[in-house]
Amino acid sequence: MLLSDLPAVLDLVNREGWMYDMVDMERILRIDSECSIVAETDGQMVGLATVIRFGDRGVIGHLVIKEGWRKKGIGDFLLDTIIADMDSKGIGTIELYAAPHARDYYPRKNFRGIGDVTIYFRESRLDLPKPKKSQNIRTIELDEIDDILAMDKPILEVDRRKMIEDIVTHYPDLCLGQFEDGRLTGYALGRSASGICDIGPWIMGNPTEENTSSMFIELMTRMGGEPTFMCAPTDNNIATDLMTKWGFSVKSVVRRMVRTKQDIKPFTGEVMAVAALEFA
Ligand SMILES: CC(C)(COP(=O)(O)OP(=O)(O)OC[C@H]1O[C@@H](n2cnc3c(N)ncnc32)[C@H](O)[C@@H]1OP(=O)(O)O)[C@@H](O)C(=O)NCCC(=O)NCCS
Repeated sequence: MLLSDLPAVLDLVNREGWMYDMVDMERILRIDSECSIVAETDGQMVGLATVIRFGDRGVIGHLVIKEGWRKKGIGDFLLDTIIADMDSKGIGTIELYAAPHARDYYPRKNFRGIGDVTIYFRESRLDLPKPKKSQNIRTIELDEIDDILAMDKPILEVDRRKMIEDIVTHYPDLCLGQFEDGRLTGYALGRSASGICDIGPWIMGNPTEENTSSMFIELMTRMGGEPTFMCAPTDNNIATDLMTKWGFSVKSVVRRMVRTKQDIKPFTGEVMAVAALEFA
């Protein structure tokens, strides 16, 4: 996939109602320019797959075949191409988030489910209370990325440095850390494009109703309370209660699926939100 493909890619992706912005697509190619692919017939794009490598894991973000071209084997062709490419690059684990109607598609290629993620959305502006003055929450500096990774890597079992660096670089005012005695104990990264905001990745070392509420209110205040997405592990009760309390509605539930010989552990309670840009 080339930069010049992105307008057609965005068009195909958003025909699925997924509300991505060009900056999201550009970020994918910036983080990993080598693994995303498109299928063309007579110069027309009929399918695409975006893939980002995080260390030794490949994450498939989008897999879309143009309507009218489905059920002709193009999806299988793209998936087989990605699997072969990951094999050749020594990447043993491929991960994706399957939409409800596509859940039965992936097991044929040896993907298995390891938990669900709920996509929450709030369309209308939020009236937020004034954030409490807290010494504990402040923006994260670029030179604190190693502290984020020291929390993130053991929990996610993968090195997401490139993605985290990219988000902190582009949205310095929306990337927050929670600190105790000067030590990072949680972080939440926000993004905003074309009036739509996104919360995640969001990790809390010891999530409580109180500390997650403080982080949420501070981040939402900074994002302006605009329409917002948050993708939270379905069995995270603290995240579920937070979303319910603030009037978010469930847009969809996607299944986290992996193709691997390794033992990948499901998300723990520390994972409040994953980044929607990892999704289809
Ligand atoms: C899901 C999608 C990528 C499949 O691509 P495709 O090109 O239509 O699939 P293929 O023609 O390669 O199908 C290969 C096989 O999978 C089956 N299959 C296709 N879509 C399926 C689905 N949604 N569920 C279960 N099986 C499916 C086909 O019947 C075919 O089976 P067969 O080999 O026994 O005949 C395509 O339908 C699509 O783009 N959908 C909209 C976007 C989307 O939902 N993407 C996935 C998000 S996670």
